Amino acid sequence: MTFSHFHQKLLQWYPQNKRDLPWRNTQNPYIIWLSEIILQQTRVAQGLPYFEKFVKFYPTVQDLAQAPIEDVLRLWQGLGYYSRARNLHHCARQVAEEYNGHFPTDYKSLLRLKGIGQYTAAAIASFAYKEKVAVVDGNVFRVLSRYFGVDADISSTNGKKQFQQLANKAIPDSQPDEYNQAIMEFGALQCTPKKVDCQVCPLQDSCFAHANDQVEMLPVKSKK
Ligand code: ADE
Repeated sequence: MTFSHFHQKLLQWYPQNKRDLPWRNTQNPYIIWLSEIILQQTRVAQGLPYFEKFVKFYPTVQDLAQAPIEDVLRLWQGLGYYSRARNLHHCARQVAEEYNGHFPTDYKSLLRLKGIGQYTAAAIASFAYKEKVAVVDGNVFRVLSRYFGVDADISSTNGKKQFQQLANKAIPDSQPDEYNQAIMEFGALQCTPKKVDCQVCPLQDSCFAHANDQVEMLPVKSKK
């Protein structure tokens, strides 16, 4: 399997179509981490005002680490999943105390922090430090499964692993950060779950699902 056409088209599409989101104009790992935690299980439109509030009240990881948890929970009100806010605070303290206020700079070390899983570690490592690690979220599952015709079940551990492996093979040596943003944005805006407009898709000519009329059937997800 070669990926150069896929890379080229995505990297061409991205600058012309991307949303201007504040966490994309920075390489500050704290800001990137904050945005990714807020956006878990939350839409961009809903998360954006919370992101702005948190950056304003806590401009650095030390500011957040020093804040009483009650203040953090109050600021979080309305977002739900309060364990995320508790983990956020816990992680800020870890970075402040164990790492002298500097986020670790590689994927493996980031994974050791509270509330940081594979997705978030990959997002921080690639966006802040340009490490070549693939981000895999719902958008990425959808794009990869349709384009490459992978019918592994994304609700199974094994299926997730297969996509992680494919994603790690697909990520290019150059601009892994831009590519990660591009594939996620492509899944969010072009290769959408429903009502997909394949007629305007730059990958239509080489997409497995389009050629085989399976766009609406992929990805396979047996459990909700
Ligand atoms: N949702 C989660 N992470 C995101 C990001 N970095 N950009 C846009 N939407 C996202």
